[in-house]
Amino acid sequence: MKKVFMTIACAVALLKASADEGMWLPMLLGEQVYADMVKKGLKLTKEQLYSVNKSSLKDAILLFNSGCTAELVSEQGLVFTNHHCGYSAIAAASTVENNYLKNGFYAYNKDQEIKSTITVQFLDRIVDVTKEMEDGLKELAWADRMKKITDVGKGITDKVTDQGNGLTGKIYSMFKGNQYLMYVYKTYRDVRLVGAPPESVGKFGGDTDNWEWPRHTGDFSVFRIYADKEGKPADYSRENVPLKPKHFLPVSLKGVKDGDFAMIYGYPGSTNRYETSYGIKLKNEIENPSLVGLRDVRLKLMHEQMIKDPAVKLKLASNYASVANYWKFFDGETKQLKKFGTYEQKQGYENTFSKWAKGKPGYENLFAEYSKSYAAWTPYSKSRVYLIEGVLGSPLAAYASSLLQVEAGLAKSGSTGADIKKLLDAADANRKTFQESEDIASDEKILAMIAMMFYNDVDKSQHPAGFFEGIKATFGNLDDETTFRKWAKDLVSKTMILDNAKWTAFVANPDLTVLQGDPAFAYAAAFVKNYNAKFASLYTAFNTKNAELGRAYMKGIMEMNPATAKKMYPDANLSMRVSYGDIKSYTPKDAVKYDYVSTGKGILEKYIPGDYEFDLPAKQVELMKKKDFGQYIDKGRNDLVVTFITTNDITGGNSGSPVIDANGNLLGLAFDGNYEALSHKIAFDKDLNRTICVDVRYVLWCIDKLGGAKNIIDELKLVR
Ligand code: ARG
Repeated sequence: MKKVFMTIACAVALLKASADEGMWLPMLLGEQVYADMVKKGLKLTKEQLYSVNKSSLKDAILLFNSGCTAELVSEQGLVFTNHHCGYSAIAAASTVENNYLKNGFYAYNKDQEIKSTITVQFLDRIVDVTKEMEDGLKELAWADRMKKITDVGKGITDKVTDQGNGLTGKIYSMFKGNQYLMYVYKTYRDVRLVGAPPESVGKFGGDTDNWEWPRHTGDFSVFRIYADKEGKPADYSRENVPLKPKHFLPVSLKGVKDGDFAMIYGYPGSTNRYETSYGIKLKNEIENPSLVGLRDVRLKLMHEQMIKDPAVKLKLASNYASVANYWKFFDGETKQLKKFGTYEQKQGYENTFSKWAKGKPGYENLFAEYSKSYAAWTPYSKSRVYLIEGVLGSPLAAYASSLLQVEAGLAKSGSTGADIKKLLDAADANRKTFQESEDIASDEKILAMIAMMFYNDVDKSQHPAGFFEGIKATFGNLDDETTFRKWAKDLVSKTMILDNAKWTAFVANPDLTVLQGDPAFAYAAAFVKNYNAKFASLYTAFNTKNAELGRAYMKGIMEMNPATAKKMYPDANLSMRVSYGDIKSYTPKDAVKYDYVSTGKGILEKYIPGDYEFDLPAKQVELMKKKDFGQYIDKGRNDLVVTFITTNDITGGNSGSPVIDANGNLLGLAFDGNYEALSHKIAFDKDLNRTICVDVRYVLWCIDKLGGAKNIIDELKLVR
C-alpha cells in the first residue's frame, strides 16, 4: 500500500508543477499560470507581463554576457546585475594600483564609466518554429537528424538575422526536442561599468557562505548600455549615447514581508527535471565525486598562491570563482540527491511508466535501452571527467591542447604557407590571452598533482600508451609524489609556451618535430588523442542515444497524462522564463527555523577583520555601527535588510534576475540557491527550495552611503 502510494505521489510531482515549481515560458503565462499568479497577489495584466506589440516587463530584462540576467532601472540605460556576473569585467578593469575589484568603483559622471567587453541581449519576440524544423528533418534516421539539425535551424534563423539592427534568432529545443521555439534577440555591445562595491561586500562570505542561507552578500554591480544616436546597437564609441529602453523597473523602498508575492524574470541556464535514475546514478557515483575531487586540488593550489600576492589574486580571481562555485554546487547536489532519495523516486516513476508503456511501440523498450546505453558508457565516464576537469584543468595544458590544430596543419601535406600562418597567428593571439591570466607557480603544482591522480585513479587500460612509463624512465618511481613534481618542474622549465624566445623562434620557423617535442604539448596531446581514439565515439554514441530516448520518454510522459501535459514547463536552457512564488522563511532541519531576511546585525556578527572572506571596508563598519541607514532603513527592524529568500524556482543563469513585486517594482536581485535544495536541477523540493536575493534597499545603501554615488540614485524611479 505504502509503495504504491509513493509511486503515484512521485508521478504527480514529476508532471505537474507543484507549489512554486515552474520556469514558465513568458508567452504562455496568460494561458498556463496567470490565474494562479493573481490568486497569489499579482496586480498586473497579462499584457503587462508579456506582450509583443506593447512594452511589457520582458523589455526590462536582459541576457547579460550570455550567462547571467540583468535588468534596466532607468530611462538612461542603467542596468543592475550581480557582482559575480560583473566580476570578470571588474577584474579586467582593475590593476594592482587601481584595484576596483578590491576597493570598489563608482563613476560619478558618465565620463568616468569604464568600457567593457560585456554584451547584453533584449528579447524581441518568441516564435514557434516546430513545424519548419520538423519539415526540414522529416524521415531522417536519428543519427542523421542530429547531424542536420543545426543546418535546418540556421536556415530558419538566417531569415530573421538583421545585422544593422543587431537582430539574431536562436532556436531552443524544448521538452527534449518535442518542440522548437525561436527567440529573436537584439544585442548591444557597448556596455560600460558604472559601479561595483568592494569585493569584501560584493562577495562577502566568499565560498564558505556560497550556496547557503543565511547570507549577507551585497552581490550587485551596475552597468550602462550605450547605443548609436538612433538607439541601434553599435561598437564602443564616444559618440554613442545611453540607450533609452522600452521599459525599466521602478525600485521599491517598501521592503518585504513573509508571504509577499514575488516573481522573477530571467535566463535559467539548465535543469534536467526529467533525468532518469540511470543518469542520477552515474552522476552520484562517478561524475560528481570525480569533478569535486579534481577541483578540490586545483582550488587549493591556486588559493595558496592567491593569498600570497595581490597580482596573482587579480589574475586568477575570475577563474577561481567560477571553478569554486560549481565545485561546491556539485558536491552539494549529490548530497541532497541522496538525502531526498531522488534515485529511488525516479526508479519508482520509471516502473509506473514502463507498466503504462507495455505493448506500446516506441515506448515499451525505453528503459531496457537506457540500461544498455549507460552500461556501455559508464566504464569510461571517469576518464572523461579526468581529462576535462583534470588534465585540461591546468591552464597551460589547456592552452597546449589548442596547438593540436597547429600540429594538424603542419602534418597535412596540402597545407600552404598561408594556412600555417593563419593557424600560428591564432595560436599567438590565444597565447597572449593565456599569458594574461597564467600563474606558473600554481600551474606547475596542478600539473604534478593531476598527472599523479590520473595515474592512480583511472583504470590503467585507459591511460595513454607509454606516457607514464616515460615519466618513470626519466623521473623515478610512479608511486612517489616527488616524481610527478620533478616531471612538472622540468616541463615548465622547458616548454616554449612559457618561453618568449623559444616561442618567437617557433612562430618564425614552425616545425612539426619541435612542436611534438615540446613537453607541455606532448602531455596535453597524449591525453586528448588517447581520449579521441578510444572514447570520443563511444561518448557521441551515448549522447546521441540518450537524446533519442529522452525525446521519446518525454513524449510518452505527456501522452500518459494528457490533462497535465498542458500545464508543463520545459527544462531550463538559457531561454527567458518567469517564475513566481513568495517571500518565505523555512525549516532546514529538525528544530531549526530560518527567518526570511538577513540584516546588518548579521554582517557585523560575521565580520572578521583581515579575513579573506569575512572582512569589510572600515567605512561600512562605522556606518553600520552608527546605524546610518538613511531612507534605506527597515523601520520595523531598525536595521538594514541585507538579503531575503523566496520560494521561486530558479537556477544558474538567473543570477542578477530582478525580484519583482505584485505591481512590477524591483524588490531585489536573485543571486543564489540554498544548500538544502542543491539538487534543484534534477528535482524541485517544494518545502526546502529557496532563492537567495539581495534586498534592493541594501544595494542602494551601498551605492549611496558607502560609495557616495548619489548620481546613480538620482536616476532611479523610487517607489515609497
Ligand atoms: N552561487 C552563485 C551562483 O551560482 C554564485 C556566487 C559567487 N560567489 C562565490 N563565492 N563563488 O549564482
